[in-house]
Amino acid sequence: MREGTSKVIYRADYQPPAFWIDTVELVFDLDPAKTRVLNRMRVRRNPDVMPQPLRLDGEELNLARVLVGGQGTSFKMEEGQLVLENLPEGNEPFELEIFTTCAPAKNTKLMGLYVSNDSFFTQCEAEGFRRITYFLDRPDVMASYTVTLRADKRKYPVLLSNGNLVAQGDLEDGRHYAKWVDPFRKPSYLFALVAGQLVCREQRISARSGRDHLLQVYVRPGDLDKTEHAMNSLMASVAWDEARFGLELDLERFMIVATSDFNMGAMENKGLNIFNTKYVLANQATATDTDYGNIESVVGHEYFHNWTGNRVTCRDWFQLSLKEGLTVFRDQEFSQDLAGDVSARAVKRIEDVRVLRTAQFPEDAGPMAHPVRPDQYLEINNFYTVTVYEKGAEVVRMMQALVGREGFAKGLSLYFQRHDGHAVTCDDFAQAIAEANPDSQLAQRLEQFRRWYSQAGTPRVRVQTHFDAVSGIYSLTLTQSCGATPGQPDKQPFVIPIALGLLDAEGRELTSGMHVLTQAAETLTFPGYSAEPVPSLLRGFSAPVILEYDYSDRQLLTLLANDTDPFNRWEAAQRLATGRALTYIRGDLPVELDAPYVEAMRTVLRHPALDAAFKELVLTLPAETYIAEQLDVVDPQRIHAVREAMRQQLSQALYADWEWAYEAHKDSGAYRPDPVSSGRRALAGLALAHLCLAARTSGDNVWPGKAYQRFKDASNMTDRFNALAALVISGHELAAQALQRFHAMFRNEPLVLDKWFALQAGAPDRNGNVLPVVKQLMQHPDFNIRNPNRARSVIFSYCSANPGGFHRADAAGYVYWSERVMELDAINPQVAARLARALDRWKKLAEPLRGAAREAIARVAAKPDLSNDVREVVTRALAD
Ligand code: TRP
Ligand code: ZN
Repeated sequence: MREGTSKVIYRADYQPPAFWIDTVELVFDLDPAKTRVLNRMRVRRNPDVMPQPLRLDGEELNLARVLVGGQGTSFKMEEGQLVLENLPEGNEPFELEIFTTCAPAKNTKLMGLYVSNDSFFTQCEAEGFRRITYFLDRPDVMASYTVTLRADKRKYPVLLSNGNLVAQGDLEDGRHYAKWVDPFRKPSYLFALVAGQLVCREQRISARSGRDHLLQVYVRPGDLDKTEHAMNSLMASVAWDEARFGLELDLERFMIVATSDFNMGAMENKGLNIFNTKYVLANQATATDTDYGNIESVVGHEYFHNWTGNRVTCRDWFQLSLKEGLTVFRDQEFSQDLAGDVSARAVKRIEDVRVLRTAQFPEDAGPMAHPVRPDQYLEINNFYTVTVYEKGAEVVRMMQALVGREGFAKGLSLYFQRHDGHAVTCDDFAQAIAEANPDSQLAQRLEQFRRWYSQAGTPRVRVQTHFDAVSGIYSLTLTQSCGATPGQPDKQPFVIPIALGLLDAEGRELTSGMHVLTQAAETLTFPGYSAEPVPSLLRGFSAPVILEYDYSDRQLLTLLANDTDPFNRWEAAQRLATGRALTYIRGDLPVELDAPYVEAMRTVLRHPALDAAFKELVLTLPAETYIAEQLDVVDPQRIHAVREAMRQQLSQALYADWEWAYEAHKDSGAYRPDPVSSGRRALAGLALAHLCLAARTSGDNVWPGKAYQRFKDASNMTDRFNALAALVISGHELAAQALQRFHAMFRNEPLVLDKWFALQAGAPDRNGNVLPVVKQLMQHPDFNIRNPNRARSVIFSYCSANPGGFHRADAAGYVYWSERVMELDAINPQVAARLARALDRWKKLAEPLRGAAREAIARVAAKPDLSNDVREVVTRALAD
């Protein structure tokens, strides 16, 4: 049944294409059951490559006709490819015409052309275009596209594709057409079409150059009132890229279209971005502050791809981080710049680092570990990872640290000067940044720096300090190492920029700067101190490493109270909490938070100068997955129990402070998703959660009652959802009533229902009560496993985001997982493979969980007919 290859692809095997495709004319007759696709290409041999047959990729296509120069020709099928041997010799272009049909309504993989809510959408990255027509479906083949769409006018009034609309009109039988020309050459993965009943919000803008542009956000009728924020985000993105990097919008028209069936977040198709509704639709009644923030960054991300990804694209898919790491870096900078002041920027940085450490570090330590520029894959979809995206962004961030902000902007200009309109490599990028800054540490150590692209694994930097009271010399010895990862037993030293400062005992800053660590071990000396300073290391998280230093509590409390670097203030609190959690987890002592820790938390909570958003981050304990990574043997239930006990004690010990915090922050004025008011809502939400938690032991129902009232009266989704979550998470009896009410209120809002499902599937486990709830939720009439957002809201919320509930001693969580992986694989392998990763870290689990997890993975691996996607994940999980 499966087409295409089941072969591992190696980066080292890259060969340029044997043919170029200069132009493509596509004509679509759109029909859900049978869409007809006429594809006329101008093809020529690549003179740099030995003459060979033309092999075109195709998948799940029905081939009706192949013409070369208007004449029939012989062809054969080999490994799913269409192979043409009798082609004109010489280097002159020739015309190749291919006529195929496909069945969009049956396309549950959501790759290629598919139907969602009676509209047509495409998703071509990475290898979806081959599901639309036979093609050289690889990013280094760039062509000019002309696209004609024909469809029933009543059912599909809106017909969109990349570029500019050049013609439209009516046809016979109630059909109509639209013809689009994309002025830019592009790889096939950036092709897109949309057809359906859609409405749009429009905005005209003029760029600095005076050029006018039309911005459009398309949604289903009824959703227009949820498009303002996406449009604002898009306008801000256009302005930011001009201001920060001098990069202008190069199209007359830029469109965003939202669909509720989408495998990922969004897609940067040239001029026609297609988005998961989750990253477009928002109003205060249905979306939380987090949603607003995510929309801003995803809209930015896709828009920024227009230059970093589309104008300059990837030579091959191993270079994915060339566009993704760079574009994540750009969207992170965008959100920081929009946030404004130092504190709000730090909040964004902390959130980004939290993602890196809770998701990417485990990936880098597990069976799927791979370099930012991978060396091999079975299925490229499996490499749209936090390593390629988030660690890739950190690598770009380090480059900026090494060449400076201005130097980096200069480097980016050189990159576009050299490579605009081409498909290039990660090396080309690093080379441009370095060469634009010849005197920088990056240029001087470029070859060594490139190890960040080639070596997987998270480096550890161990720090030892020494103070000689007699000479007054303070010294720091830095030692770096990196553990083995699959296929890479030994690692060479990295170039690690380490921003640091020294504080005196009163917390005053003595000195600060950046050290670039390049050797396996180096010692820094600071002369002239009368007393031992307190080191503030890796400020701003200046490199994606694990920094090991045996901080004393006293040092951490000094940093928490005084450091000029807000990131390290937060980090000090995380270390205080992590250290305590690990002690309780390892020992048999009951969880009993000490007074100095509690007092430090109280001081932060009551601090007159700190921002609410920052306080909320400091008062939030490290995630269970983060704590798990600090342990060699993991008992998720124990971690959960300890963390919950710590939370419970913080609730009680700071009861009056939480009351104050709630009352002082609960009113944030008319709803605006800005950093200040969203920070107030976040802190009020945390306070309410703690107050309801405290009611668990006290039995006092006042705060749960207030939470219920808040839940009913809230004027925005953030406050309403926080109140609901406070009830659900504390396990209060009012939760059931609130959940029922919430569902009734939002029964027609799919994105809100996703939250409703996710909250229940992710709720703290009490005596194994979550799995039965999850199974019940799957029976709910609103559940639909074919919709990725909904599947994620139930299945992933349980398997990936609820370790305490998932890792059951009776292995029932694992059995459920294996069943869902196999069920999903038959529908949508990409989504199934993501779920398969939930057991990535099984080898760290304590027995009997470890054995049970292994068995569950083996059960999946033994299934015949697995997709490449899932097979790659489970095979690597079982490998030793
Ligand atoms: N290029 C997209 C982004 O990061 C990623 C993406 C969207 C994607 N949809 C996909 C990747 C489907 C693979 C498959 O912005
Ligand atoms: Zn991207």
